[in-house]
Amino acid sequence: MVEIEWGEWAGHLRESAANEADWNAAVAAGLVRDSDMVAVDVGCGGGGMAKALAAAMPSGTTVVAIDADPDVLEQAREHTAGAVRCELASMDDGAEPLRKAIDAPADLIWASASVHHAADQQAAIDALASLLAPGGRLALAESGLPARSLPWDLGIGEPGLELRLDLAQDKWFAAMRDSLPGTVPMPYGWTDALTRAGLVEVGTRSVLTESSAPLGAEQQERVVTQFQHRVERLKPETGEHGQGHGHGHGHIEYQEWLSAEDLAVWEQLLDPEGEHYLGRRTDLAVLSVRSIHIGHAPR
Ligand SMILES: C[S@@+](CC[C@H](N)C(=O)[O-])C[C@H]1O[C@@H](n2cnc3c(N)ncnc32)[C@H](O)[C@@H]1O
Repeated sequence: MVEIEWGEWAGHLRESAANEADWNAAVAAGLVRDSDMVAVDVGCGGGGMAKALAAAMPSGTTVVAIDADPDVLEQAREHTAGAVRCELASMDDGAEPLRKAIDAPADLIWASASVHHAADQQAAIDALASLLAPGGRLALAESGLPARSLPWDLGIGEPGLELRLDLAQDKWFAAMRDSLPGTVPMPYGWTDALTRAGLVEVGTRSVLTESSAPLGAEQQERVVTQFQHRVERLKPETGEHGQGHGHGHGHIEYQEWLSAEDLAVWEQLLDPEGEHYLGRRTDLAVLSVRSIHIGHAPR
């Protein structure tokens, strides 16, 4: 069972919003049109894209940031500092609460890494598509390629640690989807989902981000912090390694996402006092590809 308490991640989402400001600004500049009057960021997290949209939109227009978690929305409210309207609503409740929150047909709806948390992703996409003005765009930032920052052989543990972290995260993701109440499988890709929602001129553009080694101190710290968060999420929830939650008659409901060996290696890599601390390496890099799937409402 994997349940996410979004409130616990609110601070982290705010940090990401600040760290991704350049990426958001570049993407927003490429998406916004001069004629746009209303733009929306759904599942806005710390409000990074909402803030970028507000900067890219023509003056006198509206940006609405929507999230289902009040603590997360509070972070977005602070981060966007009055530039956007922040509204509490869930994609799991159908189109009407979202329509009420936006209060006008939307020219652009952005949803990054949020639709994959909706119990019924196709229903969420259908709801978002129904909120578009004629010719409006729904942009889903989902999937892409696994990011790469580490050399294959770190000189500690078995080589390929970053690949195994991706695999563990993928298993965690499958369990997260299974644990959502009322979960519905979506056994097809994002572009098909946009087409099924009645959108046209559907396509994908992917954005590559690259910084070669050695990274500057700030970026290096961000990379290490991201690994910390990813490993944290995959750690056993309670007790000593290998114990976890007792449940029912001695049944242990405990999922080992990462092997004990890899977890021990991560602990060393993430220990600032340790000899293998990632933050001191000169060979960390950033290579990531994020995909944006876009569909247009018929005119
Ligand atoms: C992985 S975070 C992504 C945040 C941000 N869009 C980004 O790309 O950094 C997912 C966000 O979706 C929100 N969320 C999860 N389920 C939701 C739902 N059913 N309706 C609206 N927002 C939801 C969470 O509270 C969280 O802020």
